[in-house]
Amino acid sequence: MPNAVVMTGYGPPEVLKWAGVPQREPGEGQIRIKVKAAGISPTDLVLRAGYVKAIPLPPNAVLGFEAAGTVDAVGPGVTGTSIGDGVTALLLGLGGYAEYAVASIWTRKPDTVSWIDAAALPSSAEAAVGVLRQLNVKSGETLLLFGGGGSVGIIATQLAVARGIKVISAVGEHDETLARELGAAPVRYGAGVADRVRALGAVDAVFDAAGKGVLADAIAL
Ligand SMILES: NC(=O)c1ccc[n+]([C@@H]2O[C@H](COP(=O)([O-])OP(=O)(O)OC[C@H]3O[C@@H](n4cnc5c(N)ncnc54)[C@H](OP(=O)(O)O)[C@@H]3O)[C@@H](O)[C@H]2O)c1
Repeated sequence: MPNAVVMTGYGPPEVLKWAGVPQREPGEGQIRIKVKAAGISPTDLVLRAGYVKAIPLPPNAVLGFEAAGTVDAVGPGVTGTSIGDGVTALLLGLGGYAEYAVASIWTRKPDTVSWIDAAALPSSAEAAVGVLRQLNVKSGETLLLFGGGGSVGIIATQLAVARGIKVISAVGEHDETLARELGAAPVRYGAGVADRVRALGAVDAVFDAAGKGVLADAIAL
């Protein structure tokens, strides 16, 4: 029987226990991963603390929205992925804090990317890709990004810049160099940010990757 970090109830980290869990088989279109590294996302912490009980969790739930490892078993209908491949997976049904995780959404892990880095990517990358797709910003247009120094913002900046989009990145002083290195034009966030952005010209779309306190400026711009 493999082990996992199971949630024995809502509460502080102490509710998490290393315990035996049934081995799951991958279903249609799924793979099973022998996990080498699991990402811990803010949502895991919120779920564990019991702040969003509206999202039902089974008894002894295993948290973890993302994990990287080697493919250990392949379900029916899966093509292009073989046992032993290195992958990283987005686990919308949770289960990453475990020796084995079953995934429906994954991508190949390049050899140059570490297991730990790979495990930290899927949730943030999915958010960055998803919002950029919704915004539908085109090459040559200007995107204002709030939170360009965060995990979603760093990925969104690089994707947008690679598509030929001009990125204005609203960041704290400590992230100005990072934003510049990623190819964005930094502006300092906080009071007066709208005027600092206007001084750089018009924006075609706004991406809130800060998650707090920027809605009024985003709408104004
Ligand atoms: N990461 C995920 O997997 C994921 C998935 C889906 C959705 N989301 C959502 O995406 C948002 C960002 O998540 P994240 O994981 O990227 O968070 P994060 O790593 O904590 O980054 C947030 C960034 O926003 C900056 N920030 C704070 N206040 C700001 C302001 N007023 N204006 C501009 N930037 C400001 C922070 O800068 P300082 O360092 O200066 O505070 C930080 O760089 C959150 O709402 C989160 O819930 C995240």
